[in-house]
Amino acid sequence: MPTFKVFRYDPDKNDPPYFQDYEVPDHKGMTVLEALYYILENLDPTLAFRSSCRMGVCGSCAMHIDGQYGLACETQVAALGNKITIRPLAHMTVIRDMVVDLDPFFAQYEAIKPYLIPKNAPGPREYAQTPRERKKLDILVDCILCASCYGSCPVVGTDEKYLGPHALLKALRFIDDSRDGQTNERLAFVANDSGIFRCHTIFNCQQVCPKDLDPTGAIGKLKMKSLWAKLTGKLKSSG
Ligand code: SF4
Ligand code: F3S
Ligand code: FES
Repeated sequence: MPTFKVFRYDPDKNDPPYFQDYEVPDHKGMTVLEALYYILENLDPTLAFRSSCRMGVCGSCAMHIDGQYGLACETQVAALGNKITIRPLAHMTVIRDMVVDLDPFFAQYEAIKPYLIPKNAPGPREYAQTPRERKKLDILVDCILCASCYGSCPVVGTDEKYLGPHALLKALRFIDDSRDGQTNERLAFVANDSGIFRCHTIFNCQQVCPKDLDPTGAIGKLKMKSLWAKLTGKLKSSG
């Protein structure tokens, strides 16, 4: 029976954060999220954590699980040891236990304008793409905004203005979209003082992404694209 050593913090009490141990009877196929629900329903109804889909789609159950960021609903208890440490995501204010304030994460995401800004004014027809143009976006559209990459990135931890791996990956998704008309403005924005050149290519984001996305590679591509745009005189000022 594994012991879960779980981070606890309630700002309404004066106690500093601490870890609490819970023994959880495991079974074949049990996930860390199921273990947290066992604690909540059988041992301690005050435990706070987020979850929704329980199948790796909504991104809400990301946390620090035994030394690695990831989704509690996709992490098998059997793959971990007998003492399993659970903490909240780093670099964000803890609201309670594993629940963190995601506002800074979503503010950085909104900053890159995560929506299509078409080349032409809306016309009577849809904006068509060839299969090849659409294929280019395959590796970029699957982000579930779980914030595992954000929590794992040391630059996020030292520079609150840094756009972060999730926002930069999403910026490439629109820069690479053949229907988008803001390529150079977007490149100018991600090349600002808080953008791509703050990334130290640490690879943590790529290592932890539960969707096997590659924010490190996306940032590398953005660096090349922005340098090329600058060399060819296409980089416009950011808006
Ligand atoms: Fe989560 Fe991966 Fe998206 Fe980062 S890039 S928010 S780790 S799905
Ligand atoms: Fe951070 Fe990923 Fe760059 S971990 S430093 S965004 S490669
Ligand atoms: Fe939705 Fe884990 S509960 S991703």
